[in-house]
Amino acid sequence: MQNIKVNLDKCKISEKDIMKYTDDVKGIHQWLHKNKDREDNFLGWLDLPNSYDKKEFDKIKKCAEKIRKESDIFIVIGIGGSYLGARAVIEALSNNFYNMRSKIDRNSPQILFVGNNLNPDYVNDIIDLIGDKDVSLNVISKSGTTTEPAIAFRIFREIMETKYGIKEASKRIYVTTDKKKGALIQIAKQEKYTTFVIPNNIGGRYSVLTPVGLLPIAVSGVDIDKLMEGAKFACEKYSDNNLKYNECYKYAVLRNILYGKDKFIEILVSYEPKMHYMIEWWKQLFAESEGKHGKGIYPTGAEFTTDLHSLGQYIQEGRRMMFETVIDIQKYKTDIILKEEEGDLDELNYLKGKGLSYVNRKAMEGTIEAHFEGGVPNILIQLDELNEETIGHMIYFFEKACAMSGKILQINPFDQPGVEKYKTNMFKLLEKPGYKSN
Ligand code: PA5
Repeated sequence: MQNIKVNLDKCKISEKDIMKYTDDVKGIHQWLHKNKDREDNFLGWLDLPNSYDKKEFDKIKKCAEKIRKESDIFIVIGIGGSYLGARAVIEALSNNFYNMRSKIDRNSPQILFVGNNLNPDYVNDIIDLIGDKDVSLNVISKSGTTTEPAIAFRIFREIMETKYGIKEASKRIYVTTDKKKGALIQIAKQEKYTTFVIPNNIGGRYSVLTPVGLLPIAVSGVDIDKLMEGAKFACEKYSDNNLKYNECYKYAVLRNILYGKDKFIEILVSYEPKMHYMIEWWKQLFAESEGKHGKGIYPTGAEFTTDLHSLGQYIQEGRRMMFETVIDIQKYKTDIILKEEEGDLDELNYLKGKGLSYVNRKAMEGTIEAHFEGGVPNILIQLDELNEETIGHMIYFFEKACAMSGKILQINPFDQPGVEKYKTNMFKLLEKPGYKSN
């Protein structure tokens, strides 16, 4: 199984400074593992790669096969933790130009994500795309009451019932929600939809390896056995309470040391365009987990070399308040070798015989050096290649690092009370029963 390595050479923090956290880390580790089975602690993700429900897992694979066979389009309704993980894994492991406009391969349906915004044009564009194509739908909401997915489900359920009739539509609708709580489980029972359970001790942003992420991921054709294998490998690897040997905890400590040195912004950088939604998933994981009580690093992302021509100037010479965490993927699936050209008008002959991968790597090395010299510490997270196992590994790595980092920061990394504020205001403005304007 492939490893992930955290390289600290370019972040100006010594191993000695990191080791000062040894006892704190040990204490937090013990707390996490001792409390992992208590439902109210939202630690169900901690041992999930070992303890996941194998029956549910098989049911996911069977339903995914059925959906792949009978659908041209698979609609996934969800927001935040109920959609970002699935989209991140699917995009990281698919052709770059599979996006929402084309199929991943001949045997997979086109996967369209809805219910992650309230924009009517977005929804209408998807309705147009559906046309007379065959559709299946997965609505995902832990609470079963979130406004964005609830509205989308009402709209698309009606479309499917009109298209197929109520009985046939009910065989094409899959509901992923809490076992007992929320409106969605009530609708599912009434309409006899196939349901998948979100364990109640796992919060949205830690739920990608539950049916929340696994059903859409399996529908895309990604091997979810291998994904879980990668997470399982990470789960064992990072179960060491000794900071010296635990790279995941080192990353968590490093973030906090840098934060203590007024580095308030962390930019997750990738040179692989397929990582766009992995960065989005990571942003949500850390922002909702750590941004509390006036504290926390602001997580943001950048895609290089693209953003070197936009954000690059600021990173190099703007306010010195950020650090970068670079995901360094060492192997590509393919390469393009540059040829010699007569006349050399574009002055690129010096690259003859070199691969695009080589040029990309030199861009990365040059950028790390430049930003480091410009006062931006760089943490490197190195992995061999992008595949199911490394992605599973990376997911677990960041989840555990986030829990450790949040605990070092002395906040609760498993709640998100601030998200409620906009909802209350919106409900008042919409005159939802029970919400009064002041
Ligand atoms: O991480 C979280 O808990 C949130 O981002 C939720 O996933 C998001 O708000 C969606 O909630 P729900 O699944 O209840 O619809």
